Amino acid sequence: MTLRPITTDVMVIAHRGASAYGPENTLAAYKQAIMMKADYVEFDLQMTKDGHLVTLHDETLARTTNAEAFFPNRAPWRVKDFTLEEIRRLDAGSWFNKTYPAQAKKEFIGQHVPTLEEAINFVQQHGKGEVGLYIETKAPGVYPGMEENVIEILNKTNVLDNRKLFLESFSEQSLRKLKKLAPQVKLVQLYKRGMLAGKNVYQEFKRVSEYAAGVGPSKELVGRKLVRAAHQYYLLVHPWTVNTQDDMVSLLSLGVDGQFTNNTDQLVDLLEKP
Ligand code: G3P
Ligand code: CA
Repeated sequence: MTLRPITTDVMVIAHRGASAYGPENTLAAYKQAIMMKADYVEFDLQMTKDGHLVTLHDETLARTTNAEAFFPNRAPWRVKDFTLEEIRRLDAGSWFNKTYPAQAKKEFIGQHVPTLEEAINFVQQHGKGEVGLYIETKAPGVYPGMEENVIEILNKTNVLDNRKLFLESFSEQSLRKLKKLAPQVKLVQLYKRGMLAGKNVYQEFKRVSEYAAGVGPSKELVGRKLVRAAHQYYLLVHPWTVNTQDDMVSLLSLGVDGQFTNNTDQLVDLLEKP
């Protein structure tokens, strides 16, 4: 049986920005993604002690900022224990230059942790309103009120009704809250390894299709059966994180609708995007 693609225009989703080329979840990585012609820029969200949403992957500041050196007595450097003013003093770029010397650039030194509002405005401005936003509620259980806060910022920045907007989460509870707050927004249920173990994928996706527009499985989970089940319930399939052209081609042949990648340029080249 031939798989029926829902879209013929496969989406390039820049995972944490073009994060192979710049420090993840900083404006520098978002700018690179836009320059490389990503269709969407992805951000991860955490929330500060004083209730500001910032774009950062981890629940702690340790891996991607100089928090350990700057605040030596504040281990384990949880985002929720720092105010926005404190986080703004941190360098979120130098770690990248040290870890990836071949990709290092002077301009990455001193990159800061953006707020969600700042990240949205940056992508809107640099992407001329044509580059989409793909935003993940990370650790929503740690941050009461996170979903209300997200919708408030989307409203404030005038993107809530954008056609090119997805909200994503591993947490069904978080997605269902978002659905109640803003029924018009497209939601994506993420899956990591193990989350589908022992489940009937058809039953699972039928249920998920009540609230979501798509699924975002770890790439190892994706096969013909998963794509067929998702498409049967009109769910888009956006696997993560796909960083080699071999994997990109394999997933395209299975009929996925988009891919999260750190290597924006490689997927854009493969798809021959104009
Ligand atoms: O959002 C898709 C993918 O990014 C989920 O994994 O850990 O990179 O946020 P993670
Ligand atoms: Ca993510």
